[in-house]
Amino acid sequence: MIEFKDVSLVYPNGTQGLKNVNITINPGEFVVVVGLSGAGKSTLIRSMNRLVTPTDGELLIDGEDILKYRQSQLRKLRTKVGMIFQNYNLVKRSTVMKNVISGRLGHTGTLRSLLNLYPKQDVALAYRSLERVNISEKVYQRADQLSGGQQQRVAIARVLTQQPNIILADEPVASLDPPTSHQVMTYLRKVNKEDKITTIVNLHFIDMAMEYADRIIGMRAGEVVYDGPVSDVNEATFEEIYGRKIREDDLVGGSDDE
Ligand SMILES: Nc1ncnc2c1ncn2[C@@H]1O[C@H](COP(=O)(O)OP(=O)(O)OP(=O)(O)O)[C@@H](O)[C@H]1O
Ligand SMILES: [Mg+2]
Repeated sequence: MIEFKDVSLVYPNGTQGLKNVNITINPGEFVVVVGLSGAGKSTLIRSMNRLVTPTDGELLIDGEDILKYRQSQLRKLRTKVGMIFQNYNLVKRSTVMKNVISGRLGHTGTLRSLLNLYPKQDVALAYRSLERVNISEKVYQRADQLSGGQQQRVAIARVLTQQPNIILADEPVASLDPPTSHQVMTYLRKVNKEDKITTIVNLHFIDMAMEYADRIIGMRAGEVVYDGPVSDVNEATFEEIYGRKIREDDLVGGSDDE
């Protein structure tokens, strides 16, 4: 369980990233965060593994306030909370297998992993993770020889190999075309359901958000302005979040930029 209790974040330059956020995310939920550019979506996501640190309130994960965590506890937190990025964050010149097995880093220790001394069961787990996102045939290829969609699937396999309780994904499909975006979202949804990993994703397109989420969180100027099931989202909700009426280019099929 993840609980934000009156969480605010003011960046050193005075920008308010989050403002009195109160939300509870239950185990196994698939939550999609939407909002305009600058609304605080990345700040919200990054708070949950302390890539950024809120300046006020409490942020409880499984009952512990992670805002109080020091270095060694943070390391442990980050093995429990996996992250997927827009730009995949793979080591480009390494093989797919090396990238995926690095998901065990937090468990194995730096020296052993530098020496490639991963236990056999970790190698097997990495391979199984690649199979789950249908990319095991690329296992010994260099990461930079894969397409964007394939690289993001490798990133999902890496996170699966980490065996986290929570997956955070900050605009995971923003660099992909619509069909590839749907494929990546389908895999994220599948592992969420199969492994009951709590999943929190930022997405640009509202229709895609509604297709995959159990629950939508809408943000505007650092505040949560909508929090509810997909079934309750309507045009008024959209206006509340985006400050204007819905347009064709808010839909993934409706624009060909990005
Ligand atoms: N490191 C930082 N220092 C200062 N201000 C920041 C920093 N990171 C983000 N901000 C500001 O905090 C606010 C929220 O930013 P955030 O990146 O969370 O928005 P976002 O919803 O993810 O936007 P986008 O859709 O463009 O990714 C913005 O006003 C942004 O300019
Ligand atoms: Mg962002």
